[in-house]
Amino acid sequence: MRAWPAGSPRDEGEAEVDRTLDELADRGIDLDPATPGQHRHGDEIHPSDHAHPHVHSGIDEPPVIGIVGAGAVGTALGVALNRAGWQVGAVASRDPGRRERFRSLVPGARGFAEATALLDEVELVVLAVPDDALAGLAGRLHLYSGQAMVHTSGALGAEVLEPAMAAGTQVGAFHPLVAFADVELAVAALNGATVAIEGDDQLAELLARMADAIGATPVRLPPGTKAAYHAAAVLAAGGFVALLDAIAELGSVAGLDEAGSLAIYGRLVEQTLANARALGISRALTGPMTRGDTGTLERHLATLRAHAPGVLPLYVAAAEREIALAERRGVLAPEAARTMRSSLAPPD
Ligand SMILES: NC(=O)c1ccc[n+]([C@@H]2O[C@H](COP(=O)([O-])OP(=O)(O)OC[C@H]3O[C@@H](n4cnc5c(N)ncnc54)[C@H](OP(=O)(O)O)[C@@H]3O)[C@@H](O)[C@H]2O)c1
Repeated sequence: MRAWPAGSPRDEGEAEVDRTLDELADRGIDLDPATPGQHRHGDEIHPSDHAHPHVHSGIDEPPVIGIVGAGAVGTALGVALNRAGWQVGAVASRDPGRRERFRSLVPGARGFAEATALLDEVELVVLAVPDDALAGLAGRLHLYSGQAMVHTSGALGAEVLEPAMAAGTQVGAFHPLVAFADVELAVAALNGATVAIEGDDQLAELLARMADAIGATPVRLPPGTKAAYHAAAVLAAGGFVALLDAIAELGSVAGLDEAGSLAIYGRLVEQTLANARALGISRALTGPMTRGDTGTLERHLATLRAHAPGVLPLYVAAAEREIALAERRGVLAPEAARTMRSSLAPPD
């Protein structure tokens, strides 16, 4: 209790203290927490058995959303949902810079340093944190009846969130198939992307509406298939970048810089993708493996050993797959396929 007389020179100091306390509260930092079993609303402290969370959307309105993790996915999702008219009520990030950036991009979101503080403010909790942090976080966050929690991981199932559950709560997953490298690019890419959703029927229906709202297409995967679905996504994104990196390394042997390689081979990549879309993957295959051209294959292997040995394993793995594809398509005779495979075997 402060007892400074009004109008004293201490007024400005008191106002400063109040501003600091407001700012800390706004960030979810409570300097005077209630004792366990109790709950505080401003100055009022009472048993913590009243209805939570404190916010409720109207009937037929989207739930108030809270995002834990102001990283690549959390921030872009927050921006996309906010622009779609869904209320993003709060964000939790331990990093003040990321938290403030999120709040500047998502008007109306309160910022918390601790994910537990966010639980009182929202109805749907989105955990956009690294896969390895999910289980620990779910163990520390306990949902109130009526709340739901989802994560954005493509690799893990919704069951990793079960420790957060209590009666009347639901858990699920909302995994957008987007490479989140930059906020605005990711927000644009969410429009038209696929989102894999998990959850019981009621939550899945809500998540499907959430995907629709940001222009994405929701899909429900058959049980037990999520890891394969995600491994394919990793090949399509990170795996393809690894391939581009190898292409650029070989391009540099021929005197091309990265931009030059991207300009020249990028067109070939686009053409190949267009062919696969139009004709199917198998008929899009071209090159020495479809002709049984062992001489060319051996020249490639020799130059890779001499100038780009780091690219060799990737070239060999792709060539093995191409030979199998050409054989299946019926353009490469089994004998020619055998000869090519023996060229790929490491030299003695
Ligand atoms: N990146 C992609 O392209 C992509 C695509 C689809 C799905 N996903 C999935 O989305 C999730 C988030 O990925 P991201 O790329 O956004 O990761 P990120 O950029 O690294 O951001 C992760 C956020 O989580 C916070 N965090 C980290 N460890 C935490 C912990 N132990 N407790 C609480 N918060 C923690 C981080 O720190 P602060 O609290 O310090 O802010 C950060 O804000 C992952 O499950 C990932 O698999 C990623």
